[in-house]
Amino acid sequence: VADDKGVTVRRESRSPGETRRIGQAIGEHCRGGEVIFLRGPLGAGKTTLVQGIARGLGIEGPVQSPSFVLERIHRGRLALRHLDLYRLTGVEALETGLLSEMDENEVTVIEWGERAEGLVNADLEIRIDLNPQTLSRSIVMEAGSPEWQSFTIEVQRK
Ligand SMILES: Nc1ncnc2c1ncn2[C@@H]1O[C@H](COP(=O)(O)OP(=O)(O)OP(=O)(O)O)[C@@H](O)[C@H]1O
Ligand SMILES: [Mg+2]
Repeated sequence: VADDKGVTVRRESRSPGETRRIGQAIGEHCRGGEVIFLRGPLGAGKTTLVQGIARGLGIEGPVQSPSFVLERIHRGRLALRHLDLYRLTGVEALETGLLSEMDENEVTVIEWGERAEGLVNADLEIRIDLNPQTLSRSIVMEAGSPEWQSFTIEVQRK
């Protein structure tokens, strides 16, 4: 998120379904052209959140981790461009062109998004932390624009 640090909101998720519902609300709020960074350790729930975002974009098919193929595109109300930079540095992602075309009819969601930090501007940055003892995840959302700021505040209360 750009220079003004924006608003940071924290929300607990107690199950994969709850994480998907939060993702769905994010997808429903998208108008096209958004870039969303996801960070968090292996197994935190990044792909699970993207499955919900896809649902919110009207995408019906399965959403699997793109960690081997780097990129998957799904068609819906808006297209979802799902990137996973786990195997790449930011510079490699730039060189392969993965970070180049951000389309107004697409929503770009980047797992391991911190690798694209400074190379692409994100509308929303999400960090998922996991408690290995429980199914609980802490989802921290940081938004730059006023629309996404009020959205994150709403999601916190849902
Ligand atoms: N509250 C929760 N939110 C999300 N996932 C959860 C939750 N509780 C348990 N899980 C489980 O944790 C796993 C999360 O896997 P997922 O692939 O979404 O993580 P990831 O962050 O994308 O991992 P990777 O870094 O390997 O891409 C899933 O098996 C999911 O069912
Ligand atoms: Mg993943």
